[in-house]
Amino acid sequence: MRALTSYLVFLPSLILSVNYNYSCLGYCFTEGYLVHISNHLSDNRNLSLHCWSGDDNLGNHELSSSAEFEFHFCLNIWGTTKFWCDFSWNHHQYGGIFKVFWVGRKLVQMCNHKNCVWSARDDGIYLLDIVSGIFVKKYIWEAKWHQPQTRGAK
Ligand SMILES: *[C@@H]1O[C@H](CO)[C@@H](O)[C@H](O)[C@H]1NC(C)=O
Repeated sequence: MRALTSYLVFLPSLILSVNYNYSCLGYCFTEGYLVHISNHLSDNRNLSLHCWSGDDNLGNHELSSSAEFEFHFCLNIWGTTKFWCDFSWNHHQYGGIFKVFWVGRKLVQMCNHKNCVWSARDDGIYLLDIVSGIFVKKYIWEAKWHQPQTRGAK
């Protein structure tokens, strides 16, 4: 009985570790999501970003005007998957660390259980409500943003 119990506890984490880090090439055991982040800043400004979750570090990216960064992942089986991005633009004058994915009723509804479409604009970051086709402002930039030294909050 004890062996069975530990097997049942172990199995999901095995599936998770196999499944989680590889952007689920073609298949997710759980719900899969695509997160898109587009640079819609004015005056051809670049947008720098660095995104991560508890399990993945997606590296640093610099998006030229209208460029899009996207990533794909499978939810972990506990539904605790979260991704953050650290943004900055205009020589670090504006930016911030914002959560771009979490398993919340409102968010998954706006993403229609599949695509979270973020648009970075001069006045903040918007998320597309897929069903209505309306972009909703979710965050405003922090001014005089400086890259923090530490990250890894859960
Ligand atoms: C903007 O980003 C692009 C793509 O990464 C890069 O080639 C270009 O040098 C950047 N421009 C500026 C002004 O930093």
